[in-house]
Amino acid sequence: MVKNTFSEVSADVPTTGEVDGVGRRTVIRAIAMSGCCLAASGLISASPAIAQAKKVKPEPGQRFAHMAGDKEGQLVVPDDVKLGKPLLAYPMDATTTQVHGSRANLLILMRLNETDLEETMKPHAASGIVAYSGICTHEGCPISGEHENPRMALCNCHGSTFDLGANGKVIAGPATRRLAMLPVAITDGTLVVAGKLNGPIGPPA
Ligand code: FES
Repeated sequence: MVKNTFSEVSADVPTTGEVDGVGRRTVIRAIAMSGCCLAASGLISASPAIAQAKKVKPEPGQRFAHMAGDKEGQLVVPDDVKLGKPLLAYPMDATTTQVHGSRANLLILMRLNETDLEETMKPHAASGIVAYSGICTHEGCPISGEHENPRMALCNCHGSTFDLGANGKVIAGPATRRLAMLPVAITDGTLVVAGKLNGPIGPPA
């Protein structure tokens, strides 16, 4: 059974951090809509604003901020990241706490069982937590669906499934390109970006 977490995301919660870019509220609205309507609406298409935002990517040393929900804009702590439950987040500067809320920076965090992490993935995970681009490589929907297999993340728009224990490879289409993985670490109890995204984000041009 596949569960949809879209309904758990609210666009009405107050923003507690300083968020840049025009993409954050667009993404929130997109998530509040149902799957196929996202593509038809144009909210998930590669608009000029999105293309411009693709130049901004998470940088090592940044933290993570909740994209939505009761903790919108607040720092993500390791205990916030649950087994098999994709958590949507944005990178946040460590010193200024500015949240980089563009679509290109949308990330998913998820905790995996250590046994579900392939050996090559383990140096890039922290206590089982992995991070990936949160933009589906099919048509650009935000990825927030839970899958019955707790190492998989599901795109609710058309069902693409990605293996977060295996460098984001596609398990089920229509997507054909894997998700870009972002190395993470835990430093002084805080989840931090520990490298660069290891591939392109979103749908192929
Ligand atoms: S946008 Fe089509 S499966 Fe994700």
